[in-house]
Amino acid sequence: MKKILSLTTVLAICGSFLYAQNAVDLKVQLDNASGKISPHMWGIFFEDINLGADGGIYAELVKNRSFEFDHPMMGWKRLENVPEGTFLIINDSRRKGNARSLKIHKPTDFKTGLQNEGFRGMGVKKGDGYEFSLLYRQASPGIRIKVELLNEQDQVIGTAALPLSQGANWQTGSVTFTSAETSPKGKLNIWFEGAGDVEVDMLSLFPQDTWKNRPKGLRKDMVQILADMEPDFVRFPGGCIVEGRDLATRFQWKKTVGPIEERELIINRWNTEFSHRLTPDYFQTFGLGFYEYFLLSEDIGAEPVPILNCGMACQFNTGEVVPLDELDEYIQDALDLIEFANGDIHTPWGKLRAEMGHPAPFNLKMLGVGNENWGPQYIERLAIFQKILQEKHPEIQIIASSGTDPNGERFDYLDEKLRDMKVDIIDEHYYRPPAWFLSGADRYDDYDRNGPKIFAGEYASHTTRPQGPGRSTWEAALSEAAFLTGLERNGDVVTMASYAPLFGHVDGWQWSPDLIWVDNLNVYGTPSYHVQKLYSLNKGTDIIPVKLGDQNVVGQDSLYASAVYDADTKELIVKFVNYNEQSVEANFQLDTKKKIKGNATKITLANADLNVVNSLEEPLRIKPQTEQVNYKGKAIKDTFPPYSFTVIKIPVQ
Ligand code: AHR
Repeated sequence: MKKILSLTTVLAICGSFLYAQNAVDLKVQLDNASGKISPHMWGIFFEDINLGADGGIYAELVKNRSFEFDHPMMGWKRLENVPEGTFLIINDSRRKGNARSLKIHKPTDFKTGLQNEGFRGMGVKKGDGYEFSLLYRQASPGIRIKVELLNEQDQVIGTAALPLSQGANWQTGSVTFTSAETSPKGKLNIWFEGAGDVEVDMLSLFPQDTWKNRPKGLRKDMVQILADMEPDFVRFPGGCIVEGRDLATRFQWKKTVGPIEERELIINRWNTEFSHRLTPDYFQTFGLGFYEYFLLSEDIGAEPVPILNCGMACQFNTGEVVPLDELDEYIQDALDLIEFANGDIHTPWGKLRAEMGHPAPFNLKMLGVGNENWGPQYIERLAIFQKILQEKHPEIQIIASSGTDPNGERFDYLDEKLRDMKVDIIDEHYYRPPAWFLSGADRYDDYDRNGPKIFAGEYASHTTRPQGPGRSTWEAALSEAAFLTGLERNGDVVTMASYAPLFGHVDGWQWSPDLIWVDNLNVYGTPSYHVQKLYSLNKGTDIIPVKLGDQNVVGQDSLYASAVYDADTKELIVKFVNYNEQSVEANFQLDTKKKIKGNATKITLANADLNVVNSLEEPLRIKPQTEQVNYKGKAIKDTFPPYSFTVIKIPVQ
């Protein structure tokens, strides 16, 4: 059979001769900065999707600790056959946000207990301490608790006893113990010993080794991998979760602050969103609530960027809208949130922040109104928010949605309206194939320099290689690296960018690809993680033009480039993507009167196979390789491997 070469193959072969013989000449106009890089350019998009919060970064190991899931005993198993009436679910509507509790009735000392399965098991580590705690009340003494931590083989690997005191009121009990083994899928037994009646609630197990050792805090490794990105901002709490399937299940920040046991749980919208990825046990307990989101942002040196519901439920679901004359409650939520974040401790919401442990303000500067909302119904509601927020809080910048897609009728309509309204920042989202990212490297080159700023609020390249969607391949990441040169070059217009979604749990995801994958004990960054991290860690302060002839480098010969100068470290930082299957020789001619020191740092992400992924087994298959290079004078000549993203840092005097 005759083999016919496609045009692309022919071009590729010709290209390989070209590259073997001729170097590409690029000019770096170091003395001709075209603008400033925003101080909050590279950030994080956080949403409780894929077990990102409950079952993920929120380190609680007990699932359905307060019996408030739709089915009160979901996640729980009775350990022995016991007489009818031993367990009773009480629903006491006087208990704010947490009506249900479990009553254990034991007229005699028979053996009984409960087992909790955790979120896809409980990840526990040998030698680490764990704190079991609960709320309880027992009118007369009689019942004691014994807890046992089990491994996957049901062997006991940790145990503790907890006597319960007598009292008519709810009280807290807790005990700590050590795990004798590491187990990715442990379980917890709670035995009720003795005879009597006791009511229990908030049955909880946390590792003591949390982020910053905060009791009942966040999973340390998951926060650390975020901190390692040195993000400039954290956008929270999403995502569609802001909108809810209907208005009743929208995200209401006020229900996520204050005592944890009073935070009213709701179903997570990703529980039922995808029929092929149903997750019936996915609820939002709000243990990670708005206070904790603010704290997390502060901890990792990032600006908090909350997104609030604008009076509309998800338009892919019910599309419910609140009548315009009932929007007050939503606007009040925004005003109160600003007070919660920034207000004096003598204001009601500032006082709550102080009581929760943070008298100093959180220094909120930006607020999103709506996520992926569209149509005239959005514009009408946004206009009311905008008017009041601008009157009362001109210091807060408003982020407005441009819908679900980066082009098309809905986008064009919103883009025009939002520019007419002079909103501060427009939030653009793109989940697109690699080809879209590659051809879009010049997307922002012609954007209005005087109009609203752009927040690339959710981006991810969705490859179909090799077996269907969802894989966080090197192909996806490299196409993002190419596109991000365009964001960096236009850093005077695009002032914020974040990949989405952030986390995926290997046993509990609904949406893929994701930036970071976890199981109960491990965490790793995808190639896309390393790409964004390299941008974030090498952000710079000033945009430096890079030219091929007199053009920006936006895909000619499948090459992409951008550069920044960092006034703090006094470095020129060049980013270069070679999207060819051959290596490329490039000359970067530095147009500058400044003195260039030759000793540069070169960081490369590369793989000749675009299908390569990182995984739990091989978490660093794609990882940055750093080397020191000595370039001579003002001509930086180097060879860049096939399918590579390179960052070169050159000291400038
Ligand atoms: O990132 C996953 C989802 O994608 C977000 O919740 C939503 O905003 C977008 O459609």
